[in-house]
Amino acid sequence: MKVALAYSGGLDTTVSIPWLREKYNAEVITVTVDVGQPDDFKEVEQRSKSAGAIRHYHIDAKREFVEDFVKPCIKANALYEGEYPLISALSRPLIAMKVAEIAIKEGCDAVAHGCTGKGNDQVRFDVTFAAVAPHLKIVAPVREWNMTRDQEIEYARQRGLMLDYKKSRFSIDENLWGRSIEAAELEDPWTEVPAEALKFIREPRMAPDKVERLEIEFEGGVPKALNGEEMELGQLIHELNLIGGRNGFGLIDHIEDRVVGFKSREVYEAPAALTLIRSHMDLEKMTLNGKVLSFKRLVDTEWANLVYAGFWLDPLMDALVAFTEETQRDVTGKVKVELYKGSLRITGRLAERPLYSRELATYTKESVFDQLAGASFSRIWGLETVVSSSRRRRK
Ligand code: ARG
Repeated sequence: MKVALAYSGGLDTTVSIPWLREKYNAEVITVTVDVGQPDDFKEVEQRSKSAGAIRHYHIDAKREFVEDFVKPCIKANALYEGEYPLISALSRPLIAMKVAEIAIKEGCDAVAHGCTGKGNDQVRFDVTFAAVAPHLKIVAPVREWNMTRDQEIEYARQRGLMLDYKKSRFSIDENLWGRSIEAAELEDPWTEVPAEALKFIREPRMAPDKVERLEIEFEGGVPKALNGEEMELGQLIHELNLIGGRNGFGLIDHIEDRVVGFKSREVYEAPAALTLIRSHMDLEKMTLNGKVLSFKRLVDTEWANLVYAGFWLDPLMDALVAFTEETQRDVTGKVKVELYKGSLRITGRLAERPLYSRELATYTKESVFDQLAGASFSRIWGLETVVSSSRRRRK
């Protein structure tokens, strides 16, 4: 058997290499997809080779991740259960598609991933693999072997694998959209997130005692400049993670409903994602009409639910994306934001083609709104309630 393995370079996927060889007599090709994780990819490659992979691929997919995944995610204000900006969920279909591509090119019989049987990631990989390459067998070593972390380390040691990298007691998944942190003491929902679990975000009380002001500019729903300086979205996200983080903003600590039926306590660092989504939502209120806006919030929720649940390639996703695109034409303008000791406030917005009209809203004599029409409007607007109330009185 020849298998293409989605390879992060961590303990699970490294141990998967000899395990696939021994259990399935497989030739293993490792594929590392760069979606902005801060890894030393030379080291990842060496680790793969020394664990016995016959070939290693490194694929830089950062640009695709930003263009085809992060941009639509911002346009859809995607927050699963109102909180989680889909950091890991968003990267999985892209990684799976890249691995499947290599598997096909290399004439593999199978694809493999290092997900456990308890999480959402397995579903995202399995569904995407099956959708793009149904002829390939899917192997998930971690799901099959049932080893504890210590047993894995022992297994690796017996086979002389490189394990000299620093391990955190947390399970971390990072890409340019943010950082997911799980396991260890975080499994107790009552335990506070320790500072050493975090990379970007300072404790609010350690943040500067000074307001930091930002201006974020959008064009067609896509962020394009920060404080007047145009930059690539990837760069803008990077900057916002640093700026938000140093002001103690961007931590998500919530109880999340996994697709496999149980709740888990999840911690995320996402200063940029939260800043951009909140600003974008604000600009939408300035530019979309009320009916579109309220329907779009339903679409936004469903968009996030589908991505979370591994349905990136479902036709419903295409339909939601098409709807979302249609709404973004006029979402152009800028939003003013203030960060201070862990909090974020939107302090102003300015749209190029707003639906907000000061002439209509103003209480001054500049108003063009016909107030007298209000009386007739109210009479008809309330008619149904008035008729029902008079019946109630007659009873
Ligand atoms: N609960 C999140 C999700 O389902 C985070 C997953 C993080 N993955 C990981 N392998 N640590 O998207």
